Formats: sequence, C-alpha cells, structure tokens
Amino acid sequence: FDTLDDLDIAGRRVLVRVDLNVPRDGAHVRETARIERIRDTIEELAGQGAKVVLLSHFDRPKGKVVPEMSLRHILSAMEDCLGRRIAFCPESVGPTAEEAVAALPPGEILLLENLRFHAEEEANDPGFADALARLGDVYVNDAFSAAHRAHASTAALAERLPAAAGRLMEAELRAVIGALEHPQRPLMALVGGAKVSTKLAVLSHLVRKVDRLVIGGGMANTFLYAQGHDIGRSLCERDMADTAREILANADAAGCRILLPVDAVVATEFAPGAASHAVALDAVPADAMILDIGPQSVAALKAELAEVKTLVWNGPLGAFEVPPFDTGTNAVAAEAASLTRAGRLQSIAGGGDTLAALAAAGAADDFTYLSTAGGAFLEWLEGRELPGIAALAAARARNS
Ligand code: 3PG
Repeated sequence: FDTLDDLDIAGRRVLVRVDLNVPRDGAHVRETARIERIRDTIEELAGQGAKVVLLSHFDRPKGKVVPEMSLRHILSAMEDCLGRRIAFCPESVGPTAEEAVAALPPGEILLLENLRFHAEEEANDPGFADALARLGDVYVNDAFSAAHRAHASTAALAERLPAAAGRLMEAELRAVIGALEHPQRPLMALVGGAKVSTKLAVLSHLVRKVDRLVIGGGMANTFLYAQGHDIGRSLCERDMADTAREILANADAAGCRILLPVDAVVATEFAPGAASHAVALDAVPADAMILDIGPQSVAALKAELAEVKTLVWNGPLGAFEVPPFDTGTNAVAAEAASLTRAGRLQSIAGGGDTLAALAAAGAADDFTYLSTAGGAFLEWLEGRELPGIAALAAARARNS
C-alpha cells in the first residue's frame, strides 16, 4: 500500500480515518493512546499545508443520533493531547460538513461527527462513501484498530480517492507483520483470556506460526480438563475439550510447543484479597477455582522467555483485574519488560485488557510495540484479511 510519502498533499483536503473510540467517563478520556498516536500523521499533513479532516466512529450508536456518543465530548481531550485547536462539525456528510471543510484554513484540523450516527457507515454504503468522498481530495487510513471493519470510511471510501496508510497504520503493520511473518526466532505467543471459544481461531492459526504457544487465563483450564486434570469449580468450557485436544495435536504436528500451567493459584471465592494458595495440578480441591498460574508456572515461563527472541502477547494469564490474581501476569510481564529493556527480546502486545494488564504491571513502557488495536489485533492473529488493509492494497494496485 501507499504511504504519506506517495501522496501529493499541499493545499489539498485530506480525509483521515482515525479511531477515536477511546474509553471515556463523561468528558474525561481514561486512555489517550489512540489520540496521541495519530499525532505524527496529523502534524505531518498539517505541516504540509493540508486541510486535515478527521473521520471516526465512537461506540456503537447503531445508525441513530445518540447525543452521549457525539465526538464533541472528546474534543477538548484531543486538543489537550495534541496541543492544537481542532474545529468540530456536528455533521459527518452533507452541506454543513462541506461548508465546514471549505471554511477550514490550510494547516488546520477539522473533526466531523460520529460516522456511526449514519447506518450507511456500517453498511459500507456506496452513496455514503460518495458523500464522504465529496469532502476530500485524498484519503488516509490511520485506524488499524478499525481495519477489521468493512465500513464506508474504511473500505468503500478508499475506492473513491487516492488512498494511503497514515504513519500509525504503517507502524502498526510493520510491528504485527514483522512479529508473525518474519520474526526473529524462536517466536513465542502468549494467549490468555477467559474462553477457548472466543480465541479458537487465534490458537488454531498461531500453532502454525509460532515456536512456542503459552495458553493462560480461563482458557488454560479447558486444556487442563481436556488432559484429564481435576479442575474443581474452575471456569471451563467442557464442550470444548475435543477441540482443545485437536489444537494440542495440531501443535505437535506443526512443531509448536504448547506451554500450559504446571501449577495453579486457587481460591474458593473470586473477590479482592480472597484467601488463596498455590497447588500442584493434581491437588486442586473440588470446591476451589483456578484463578491464576502458580509460582512454578511463573518460573517455567521466565525460563522459556529467556530463550525466545520474539514475544506476541494477547490476554492475561489469570484473573488479573482482581488482586492477588494478577500476580502471575505481573511477574511474567515484568520479566518480558526487563528482557526487552536489555535488548534480548522483541515484545509486541495488543488488546485493551492486555494493555491494561501490562500497564498495571508497570511493564507497558518497556514493550517494543503496543498496538492500539483490540478486535483488529485478534483478527490479525487469526490470520484473517482485514478489509481496511485490503482496501489500501487494492487502491495501490489501481493506481500503479
Ligand atoms: C475498537 O475499539 O476495537 C474499534 O474502534 C472497533 O470498534 P467496534 O468493535 O465497535 O467496531
């Protein structure tokens, strides 16, 4: 795909698809990474004298105007983060939006209203894409985290204007493509989370790509159950046991070593500060739940980490949001951070929960790359083609 280097920008109206779907309480944006990380693209375009028009969705208003989901509410957080004034237009298309773009001086930024107030956005509607295309001369997609959606602003619009990836999109793709397609090996993936059923496609794809696959979180219980362990009252998808055995067999055939917990931290209630203790896997009490990996598992993972060159992390190892069940995740995250700092590991992580867990562990700043994507990162790990990326590739093929 093309990048900003390939576009003729000066004095032109540039439609930039960004992802401003940030966690927010009222006017307070809790996590500003998605705003901060579009700075390079915006500054570069504005610096070249473009009229920068930002397009984004926020939340899931389902085609209705939902005032609490207006992008107006994050405007001041954006101005604070980016350190510049941003104009706002209460429409996303039509005469009001066209006038706002026309009135925008070169080098300035305009944010249009939540695209999902129009049902046509999620429908990838050609007419809506035409209406968006009338607002710009060129199109830049800087929203890797929305690239798994085939929506008008991520797909159809790219067919209508000269199109390129923004700097954040470029960085995201370089990091994720580098990690899975030409990594320094050994390559380890660490996949946690509650359910095998939601990450089945990720696990199936990764066993064919990585050298070692760590399975953690509630998912690990299903694998332990499938191997015949007694897991008491632990979260487990018993109907996924055959699938789990199949994944283990496929990993074996592909030469991927699966690393499951070798001990566990158990408790009889899931509450902050609940009494808990570590047990061997053959000693999980019938009335207890596995809520974290145990100290031997942590030691084993640290030893494995010391041997690998690349780590891709998605999902916590235990019920990290309720201490003390964050202990295993914190310890492994701290080790990955320290190996990265020492230049011995390339570490890439993605997913809202994962980034929150790494931040809580004090490990986030040391990771080589943190993706701003949640769902799109997972779909990438599933080996799926992302419509937003495919649209950029098609635009390049069309132009050359
Ligand atoms: C995200 O937050 O992962 C993206 O903004 C996509 O949001 P969506 O899941 O509502 O499409």
